[in-house]
Amino acid sequence: MTEAQWFREAVVYQIYPRSFQDSNGDGIGDVPGIIARLDYLKTLGVDVVWLSPIYTSPQDDNGYDIADYEDIDPTFGTLADVDELIAQAHERGIRIVMDLVVNHTSDEHPWFVESRSSKDNPKRDWYWWRPAREGHETGAPGAEPTNWESFFSGPAWELDEATGEYYLHLFSRKQPDLNWENPEVREAVYAMMRWWLDRGIDGFRMDVINMISKVTALRDGQPIPGNPHLGDGTPHFLNGPRIHEYLHEMHAAVFEGRAEKLLTVGEMPGVTVEDAVLYTDPERREVDMVFQFEHVGLDHGDHKWDRRTLDLRDLKRSLGRWQDALADVGWNSLYWNNHDQPRAVSRFGSDAPEHRVASAKLLGTVLHLHRGTPYVYQGEELGMTNVPFAAHDDFLDIESVNYYRMAVASGSDAEEVLSALRLGSRDNARSPMQWDASDNAGFTTGSPWSRVNPNHTEINAEAALADEDSVFHHYRRVIELRHTEPAVAHGDFHMLAADHPRLYAFTRAHEGTELLVLANFSGDELPLDDVDGLDLDLDGWKGATLLLGNLGDPAAPTAPLRPWEARVLRR
Ligand code: NOJ
Repeated sequence: MTEAQWFREAVVYQIYPRSFQDSNGDGIGDVPGIIARLDYLKTLGVDVVWLSPIYTSPQDDNGYDIADYEDIDPTFGTLADVDELIAQAHERGIRIVMDLVVNHTSDEHPWFVESRSSKDNPKRDWYWWRPAREGHETGAPGAEPTNWESFFSGPAWELDEATGEYYLHLFSRKQPDLNWENPEVREAVYAMMRWWLDRGIDGFRMDVINMISKVTALRDGQPIPGNPHLGDGTPHFLNGPRIHEYLHEMHAAVFEGRAEKLLTVGEMPGVTVEDAVLYTDPERREVDMVFQFEHVGLDHGDHKWDRRTLDLRDLKRSLGRWQDALADVGWNSLYWNNHDQPRAVSRFGSDAPEHRVASAKLLGTVLHLHRGTPYVYQGEELGMTNVPFAAHDDFLDIESVNYYRMAVASGSDAEEVLSALRLGSRDNARSPMQWDASDNAGFTTGSPWSRVNPNHTEINAEAALADEDSVFHHYRRVIELRHTEPAVAHGDFHMLAADHPRLYAFTRAHEGTELLVLANFSGDELPLDDVDGLDLDLDGWKGATLLLGNLGDPAAPTAPLRPWEARVLRR
């Protein structure tokens, strides 16, 4: 393996700094808090930490609205704290990857402050400014330059009264989109990225990076039923016409000469497998891997708030297709959780008391045994669950708050909207990390910014570390497997029994070693001998070694799977 592919054997841990560990009692997590927990991460065995944004920010979208790319928000600490974090992480063999949010800035970023100051300001063209739609009175409903809906509800254009023009914001109105058509914007971003790399960080997770190239004609999208003025703009800005050019240019301007030591991952909603091959082909020099969203959309109906039950066959079809498509060229990232997704154990597993531990371990086993770089989101290694939110004012995230307001105002039943939020809100992922059973879960000595899940008295790191059978120790073992068993990082992937509704089974093969992963996604026993399409010589696996299991030794390697049992066999 060349050094360029070190990330194939690596596991990344995502920290959402606000919710990880508070060190100064203000109720919000911070960088010194992260430093204090590096030994915990070392014990877990992860190779890389990705930090969600800690830059100067008015926190309209919890830091994804950046007002100064080259400084740290005082809530989180100082640049000196970050230097210390980098040094201490490196001492433990852990790399640090920073979030890069450059599709948009905060409206409080000096670039935007200048840009909005007058129509002829030199930075006017750094953002997307347009007059009202022809024939419409500025400010009137429907006068926005296009009908695009923002991801956070309502129109994606905001009128700036001072100059009488609208600016584009695909996210909140405090997140104006940068105009990447302008080479000065690109140069400024690249310079900032080099500045961070020179400071010692090891790569970037690039926020919604496949939105930076827009179709410049800015035309209306397909109307969204039920709203006369809103449409779907995504075909005009997802994987846009110049996206590969920009990423390649960024690679040349920022990563050249040091790319082999770094990890770059592009967050790409709506990316297809065909796109992903192009983005991650090492020869093309764009990014190492992408975050795709297909598998986390399978339990959505018409939109993300319209939830339906996941069919395991859809999940296998989807992940299996991604495995096949990137088998020879490119590389996958693997994840169940992040700060935008509800908790995986409550969603793909079972958070019922009798199944939570087994199903959390099963999910970790299945994900980490795929080919690709796995990402663990803080608390996933404890089997943290969704939060029992009661009322609408328990929700704090801008996406949830705006959706609730908009849906109820347009006549939806408030209770139904609340149920949708309980299942799908990003707040589920953002409750404080559960360190121990004390009042605020050991997260803060002050008053936590977001509600601590009451189940922290049982589900917490202190208890997990002390219990060899915990989800934590299972994650530790599964992470270790990637480091010690070459077939886990490098083996070919082959899906089995694709049409079975409860069994997730696949093999990995590498240089004469074969692994078989068997997982029962249900609370009922699952005998293996009559599984259609399992296509396995079960007899040939009877003498196999159990590399890892989540329920203790089975009666035999191919014995019926117990509820939520997962096994990794080797021969
Ligand atoms: C994707 C991030 O993961 C999400 O948290 C954020 O709200 C949007 N991009 C906008 O930056």
